[in-house]
Amino acid sequence: MRDLLQDKNITYFPSRLQMQSKIDRKVLDKFGFQILRDFGTSSEKLKNFIMGYGYRLFYTESLNGWLHTFETQAVATELSEELEPGGFHTDFMFQKEPPRYIALQCIKPDPKYPLYGRNQIVKIDNLINAITKCGVGKDQLRELQIEYVLNGKIYKQNLFDDDLKSIKYHQKFASNNIVLNDDLKIVELINNLSLSICEDIVLNSGDLLLIDNHTTLHRRSECSVRYDFEKRIFEGRKMNSARFN
Ligand SMILES: [Fe+2]
Repeated sequence: MRDLLQDKNITYFPSRLQMQSKIDRKVLDKFGFQILRDFGTSSEKLKNFIMGYGYRLFYTESLNGWLHTFETQAVATELSEELEPGGFHTDFMFQKEPPRYIALQCIKPDPKYPLYGRNQIVKIDNLINAITKCGVGKDQLRELQIEYVLNGKIYKQNLFDDDLKSIKYHQKFASNNIVLNDDLKIVELINNLSLSICEDIVLNSGDLLLIDNHTTLHRRSECSVRYDFEKRIFEGRKMNSARFN
């Protein structure tokens, strides 16, 4: 199994730089994410840990809380609970100031761990590099607006900030209608390039993943469920999530 997974894009056994027990801004700036193995599954510990570094937890109105616990469901009511892969996105991308960091704490891994239920992350500089290789100039990217359809309304929003240092995007709501340079559909390009160059991260129970929500796109790979014949329920991957600044 280990040999099969020795792909350079799979962060299955992350470098020592990634395997730390403290929040490291340098690592977050360099990679756009950080993994803390065996952090534990306590949500209280997670809250205190984040606040202990002087960060402020981001209150999520739609979830009515500072911390969100979710489990992948056979019948989902929220995007985060779906078995299907999520689209590449940044969290709260319709807000003027989206939260800087996301913490994803694995309480229970996917029943088909490590092949299902991965988190996938692509860093902004790698994405810009890949897009420019396809013939789209940086000046075009600075101006680029993506059209979104949300609750029947159309929104337009810049993909990048002026200096190409931060990104706001949501694949699931983006209309694939902007064509650049001949036949290049930009949304299709972002989605496909992201999938091609993303890092695959496998979280086990107690692992904590920190993501920079301004400099990366993230996504959930396909998840699975297992039927517990005694309890007569489906069980899936269970996570805590929090956002902070
Ligand atoms: Fe997200």
